[in-house]
Amino acid sequence: MSSLGLDETTIKEWITRVERERARTSRPDGFPDLPDVPAGRYIDEAFFALERATLWQRTWLYAAHIDQLPEPGSYLVWTHGSAPILIIHGDDGEVRAFYNTCRHRGAPVVRNPSGRAGKSLVCGYHGWAYDRQGALRAMTEPRDWLGVDKACRGLIPVRCERFANWVFVCEDVNAEPLGDFVAPLARFVRHLPLESLRLVNRREFDVSCNAKVLMENFLEAYHFKLLHPGTTDRIFDSQGTSVHLWKNGHSMMLSPNRRADWVDPGTVGMPAMDNSTEIERDFNPSYSVFPNMIWPIAPTGIPCVAIWPKTIRTSAMEVLWFAPDWGGGERDPLWDTRIANFDRIVDEDIQLAEPMQKTLESPGFRGVPLSYQERRIYHWHEEIDRRIGIEQVPAELRIAPVLETFVE
Ligand code: FES
Ligand SMILES: [Fe+2]
Repeated sequence: MSSLGLDETTIKEWITRVERERARTSRPDGFPDLPDVPAGRYIDEAFFALERATLWQRTWLYAAHIDQLPEPGSYLVWTHGSAPILIIHGDDGEVRAFYNTCRHRGAPVVRNPSGRAGKSLVCGYHGWAYDRQGALRAMTEPRDWLGVDKACRGLIPVRCERFANWVFVCEDVNAEPLGDFVAPLARFVRHLPLESLRLVNRREFDVSCNAKVLMENFLEAYHFKLLHPGTTDRIFDSQGTSVHLWKNGHSMMLSPNRRADWVDPGTVGMPAMDNSTEIERDFNPSYSVFPNMIWPIAPTGIPCVAIWPKTIRTSAMEVLWFAPDWGGGERDPLWDTRIANFDRIVDEDIQLAEPMQKTLESPGFRGVPLSYQERRIYHWHEEIDRRIGIEQVPAELRIAPVLETFVE
């Protein structure tokens, strides 16, 4: 496998897998029965708190695209961590992250959700001033702070690294480098011009359901027929969908177009990404970056869904679009249709989410059996327990690791 993305051998192998998937009449020999996913993993308050305190703080999480932080001083406050995190483009071009917590008495250092800071960020409570690299530069009324070492009072950093132009943060100082974390998936997308993709659109909204309900929906093609009869199911063949499980909880499903000559009418006239292959053109390769990002890559751009737990019963969903650089100015008006088409699919995807929250909190919900073609969901749960530390998970809520030998 080339380190530069999809090569001919991999493309051939993936196509063969789709053909095999279409032709199969049972699940493959040797594939284990998947134990039911315990109901408590969706509804138990203590388990939700455990996940927040461990999984979500130990894992690299997508925070922003570089287009949101275009120049020195550009910042945003990212709110999906354990606390508000300031992400700021420094004078040296580096993007850094810090807890947005003043080192004096803990006020927020910046109070707008995003903006462009001057040379210093001045806390609005007593005026301590930090530079764009997080160092404490000045304390008001210095006669009262004689002898205090400013070097020890800079903003507390949070790990912040980039995969192409995507900025990720991680609250665990001991986590592996981002590059190692995403490598099992990144090896298949490096042929695409990731470094020059632009952020075309971003919206975020809340959904009144547990984040797992949303996330799991995007990990399988089994729902295409009933939830997407006029959209996804008309375009893609769910029964030909092959499933690929990778290390670190990442995965992909590859759904073939139903018709070889199909072209998304919403993309006509849009430029394709350089080096895109027949995998992006004739299939829908829907990648999942653990724990919460979905990228169903198309030749003309990458829509992205990111799902965030807020409370045990509420989630935020971010819908993003990345596409080849159009050279400045307004985006092509064709994007309005493209974005609306995808939004329609997302609306179909979440139509059952809120009603499901009620039916999951029911004595009738006894856990989740999963089929062979839903195995990405089981793989995702296995990784959740690995990140938490399986011995920390109450025995009745554990996911027995049975898919390890199927991880590629
Ligand atoms: S809390 Fe920030 S200067 Fe006092
Ligand atoms: Fe769907």
